[in-house]
Amino acid sequence: MKGSKILSMAVIISLILFTFSLAFAFDKVKFAVISDPHISIPQQKGVSDGYKLGLKTVMLTENAIAEINKIPDLNFVLVAGDLTQDAEPWNIDELRKILDGLKVPYFVVLGNHDISLVPHEKKDQPISLSKYSVAGAFIGRSGGMVPGMTYYAHEVAKDLVLVGFDTSRAQVFVPEAGLNDFGGRIDAGQMRWLESVLKKNQNKTVIILTHHSLVPWHEGDRTNHNYWRWFWIDNAEEVRALLKKYGVKLVFSGHRHISTRYQKVDDIYHFITPPISTYPMRYVVYEMTPKSLKWEVKDVPASQEVWDLARKNFLANKWWRGPDHLETPEGDKKYLEFYESNWTMKGDLTFK
Ligand SMILES: [Fe+2]
Ligand SMILES: [Fe+2]
Repeated sequence: MKGSKILSMAVIISLILFTFSLAFAFDKVKFAVISDPHISIPQQKGVSDGYKLGLKTVMLTENAIAEINKIPDLNFVLVAGDLTQDAEPWNIDELRKILDGLKVPYFVVLGNHDISLVPHEKKDQPISLSKYSVAGAFIGRSGGMVPGMTYYAHEVAKDLVLVGFDTSRAQVFVPEAGLNDFGGRIDAGQMRWLESVLKKNQNKTVIILTHHSLVPWHEGDRTNHNYWRWFWIDNAEEVRALLKKYGVKLVFSGHRHISTRYQKVDDIYHFITPPISTYPMRYVVYEMTPKSLKWEVKDVPASQEVWDLARKNFLANKWWRGPDHLETPEGDKKYLEFYESNWTMKGDLTFK
């Protein structure tokens, strides 16, 4: 008799706990995603306005943050990497100051420009910090980065876990490319860590924030036009398979400097985030429930003069053009269309 009383009490308590956990699981979150602010304070030697509006990065990022602060009921902000020009201490300080102006928590991941540059004969000794130092600058404010790590998992709302990747390779100069290696991968240690995180959070919704994409966005990203294979991680297939195995539905990346669009690959929705510091200078606001996602892309507020300059410098650039973006009126149109993606300024989808 006593035993059955204890049993029924246990059932009642379990029911209460179950109802309680259901009632408090996230039902809707609203968040903004920004990417590639590439902060370079104007006082820094050699900063200029090119394809990246170097002299305007602080102003553009401040303007984006001021707009984001006006959004009602916002829960958090994600920053998809390339935080600084090249991990300079003064630029890290400046970005931290700007992001600390946010009214809501924010979470960053590192981009290829946020790790130490390896010096080479063509460049002066750079002053850039180790990626552990850059990551360390963001410990504590919002709870993403933790000491000694450059990637993390953090429950941003009840039963909603954000996983932030570290995808960048060492910034070694590659003479035949005439560029620093801007490619990426998820290394074996991070893969093991990722699997343990996904296993532990199987009953929760997991979203991924990464600088490098897990999918290509242009035919040239596949064929390595201008080393564009470096826009998406080397072991993308392996990472997507692991995410699929644990039912992850959503990935947000940056690095590609194109406006928002998505692809569904391996049952995962891959969203790309527009750049703050290069044309078309935008950010995205998402509303998410466990079953759906809605988004709206916004322009970073700037004067007409700044917009004209950004567009002019964009059109003058050769490297960011694909083989189908010839320097003809028709080629310019295609080039603009690919980077602007004006057909996806708003949208919504339902998760299966
Ligand atoms: Fe970038
Ligand atoms: Fe990048």
